[in-house]
Amino acid sequence: MTDDPYVLVPRPPGVDEYVDLRRLSGLSPKTNEQAGFAVANSWAFCHVRHRETGAAVAMGRVLGDGGWYFHVADMATLPEHQGRGLGRRVLRWLLDQIDERAPADPYVTLMADAPGRPLYRSMGFVESAPHSLGMRLAPEPR
Ligand SMILES: CC(C)(COP(=O)(O)OP(=O)(O)OC[C@H]1O[C@@H](n2cnc3c(N)ncnc32)[C@H](O)[C@@H]1OP(=O)(O)O)[C@@H](O)C(=O)NCCC(=O)NCCS
Repeated sequence: MTDDPYVLVPRPPGVDEYVDLRRLSGLSPKTNEQAGFAVANSWAFCHVRHRETGAAVAMGRVLGDGGWYFHVADMATLPEHQGRGLGRRVLRWLLDQIDERAPADPYVTLMADAPGRPLYRSMGFVESAPHSLGMRLAPEPR
């Protein structure tokens, strides 16, 4: 028996669970159609389940070419499970995957929303600006 109430599962959560984890942790909501692609097509994906309830309570994934370019996304922990080391556990697993499966000298990026910044900094991420500024395509008509 273990005292750890959580277990890390080295696979994506279900589509419905992905949608709920994003929405309930305050990330922008995604449709089931969008979630289906995210769950099917990531380079690495893990989630954390609560042993007793079986519920998916945290997740994170990496998009990547497998060679050198990797992007961490969907870092999310349900509010009632935050601050218990789950985000750190998820990110550690994702970075270990890159260490183990990718050639040396990977380029690892992420877009750091405010709640994640202390975690990312503490795990070795640094701001890329002003040399390199994160940009996204605006959703408005172009
Ligand atoms: C970012 C997020 C995934 C972190 O998940 P978590 O499971 O709470 O993370 P952890 O418990 O592993 O905490 C990791 C670190 O984050 C920081 N942290 C966590 N909770 C914090 C809080 N309330 N205030 C300040 N820092 C905090 C600490 O540096 C902590 O390090 P420690 O282990 O030395 O204390 C979670 O806050 C979340 O889902 N936020 C909403 C969604 C979001 O914004 N995701 C990030 C998108 S870029």
